[in-house]
Amino acid sequence: MVSIPRYHQLREIIRESVRSGDLKPGELIPSERELSERYGVSRMTARQSIVELTNEGLLYRRQGKGTFVAWPKIAQQLTALTGFTEDIRARGQRPGARLIEMGMVPVDGVAALRLQVPTGQRVVRLYRARLADDEPLALERSLISFFGCEKLLEADLVGTSLYGLLETRFGLPPIEADQELEAGLATEEHAGLLEIAIGSPVLLLRRTTYTARRQPIEYAESVYRGDKYAFHTRLLRPST
Ligand code: GLP
Repeated sequence: MVSIPRYHQLREIIRESVRSGDLKPGELIPSERELSERYGVSRMTARQSIVELTNEGLLYRRQGKGTFVAWPKIAQQLTALTGFTEDIRARGQRPGARLIEMGMVPVDGVAALRLQVPTGQRVVRLYRARLADDEPLALERSLISFFGCEKLLEADLVGTSLYGLLETRFGLPPIEADQELEAGLATEEHAGLLEIAIGSPVLLLRRTTYTARRQPIEYAESVYRGDKYAFHTRLLRPST
């Protein structure tokens, strides 16, 4: 018989307690000492189980306070073009934004290519922290380009959705997008704004959004908290 390391067993016990609801999100889990006594394992074993479950995102540690059960991640579908406001509302939470920077900037490099405009053209730059129930979840740095885009600067982009404004005020609804997703680590800037530790895992998204006739309207680089999001796509086997 293959023997299962003891920390695997303890790990599965804790996992099952979370799954069954015996341990609830935000609840303090028993200490290493309590776990080792209760399950007859060494403190080292108990610690290893906790470390693994913390790395997985099922638990989180708070300095000097202990280890707690994490909230389930946001399952973000990657099949429909939606904006942050719509995503958060669909979850029954209150979307919000904190404006970090907004203004006109000359565009260059990848952004100029993606927006299909000449280098140096002035476009709107919008940098926002995005919140759900006041908790920061993502940072979004968007470059927006369309004829008359400077009028966006007069809009309230803290209380309103960018996609909503583009559609209702400018008659330019976002219709499709190309998106790339990559793993990354939080820089000092990300960490400060997202209220996470430097070096925490994050998901980097790059999106080019198009309005009618595949006209690029936005090039956005976003940083999503890795402890909060799980992306989901549906795959269909190509017909032969
Ligand atoms: C998403 C995209 C961004 C886009 C934003 C618009 O989160 N990653 O590229 O700018 O939604 O959200 P809203 O309409 O809430 O301003």
